[in-house]
Amino acid sequence: MENNSRKKEHIRHALHENVEHGSAGFEKILLKHKALPEIDFDEINLETNFLGKQLKFPIIIEAITGGFDEGGKINEILSETASEFGIGFMVGSQRPMLENFALAETYKILKHPPLIIGNIGAVQLNYGITYEDCMKAINYIKADALAFHLNPLQECFQPAGNRNFKNLKKQINEISSKLRIAGIKVIVKEVGGGLNYDDVANLEVDCLDVAGFGGTNWAIIEGKRAPNKPAGTFYNWGIPTIESVKSIRALKDKRNLELVASGGIRNGTDAAKCFALGADVSGMALPFLREIYKDDEGKISDSINKEIAKQNLRKFLNKFIEELKIALFLTGSKNIKEIKGKYSVKE
Ligand SMILES: Cc1cc2nc3c(=O)[nH]c(=O)nc-3n(C[C@H](O)[C@H](O)[C@H](O)COP(=O)(O)O)c2cc1C
Repeated sequence: MENNSRKKEHIRHALHENVEHGSAGFEKILLKHKALPEIDFDEINLETNFLGKQLKFPIIIEAITGGFDEGGKINEILSETASEFGIGFMVGSQRPMLENFALAETYKILKHPPLIIGNIGAVQLNYGITYEDCMKAINYIKADALAFHLNPLQECFQPAGNRNFKNLKKQINEISSKLRIAGIKVIVKEVGGGLNYDDVANLEVDCLDVAGFGGTNWAIIEGKRAPNKPAGTFYNWGIPTIESVKSIRALKDKRNLELVASGGIRNGTDAAKCFALGADVSGMALPFLREIYKDDEGKISDSINKEIAKQNLRKFLNKFIEELKIALFLTGSKNIKEIKGKYSVKE
């Protein structure tokens, strides 16, 4: 997901094309309504301890960008918003800054949120990225954690994509053990295709972030950039977020792992359903990107006005938090731990 013009094009397509397809599965999950919740709405507390950090709300701004000027502006706005709300923030792939350190500025974080996460494509471990590079990426943004993203589908359709995914589990584990000794938490995430138990069961990391099917769809985005490749056949490819959360929850029950639900989460009720299924925090990318580019009439524009962007993000997050609180209230849950298990599956 690297290279300056590539990152710019991803953003343009994500903003101007319909890049969501199919269902993440939220409609199949019904939260258990209580006519007598027996709690006071004002008692609801969304504070969450995640990866050893205290978040005010169980939300992470997922990786989007970096490596070009506008990307720098996006990271600045997102990190300031994360810091204002006390939530986690993950920068986009840091490969561009490792290849050309002059681009490092575009990842710079001035106002520190409670949790900062770096980001590198795991496949890059087969294309020259080393432990030292990971530390360079981490140190520059003073990250608490590093996320390795897995994007095999995207690499298939990306022009000149890196398709050698051999031997990555072993390499992730080796680097992860060194990072963990250095006090850095390690996350493995998908980018929209979802994670599955068997695939990741042997990874020795701190956290898995499912990034399931039903949200941002990379067959669509890369398909727009490489119309000669057969991306259309893969629009429906991936593990829906709900299925992926259930699968990784089973792994979490056996291992000391934290779980991020992401991929198509668009409101607080979607997030509440993921918490009922056992996720620890919820993550989103596309909704935040859209808010950044909306003008004061709510239309997607081609440029960014920082103040309007921050105002839009505030509105979006406040609404999301209110929806999540209402879902907790209506299930009689004072925090996200108490909603665990309070769902049924619609046949
Ligand atoms: C424009 C755009 C760029 C992205 N770039 C990255 C990236 O550099 N690294 C990464 O791990 N994920 C990247 N992602 C994936 C997101 O972090 C997230 O996992 C995925 O979009 C699912 O969430 P969503 O449906 O809320 O967008 C990107 C997503 C978008 C929309």
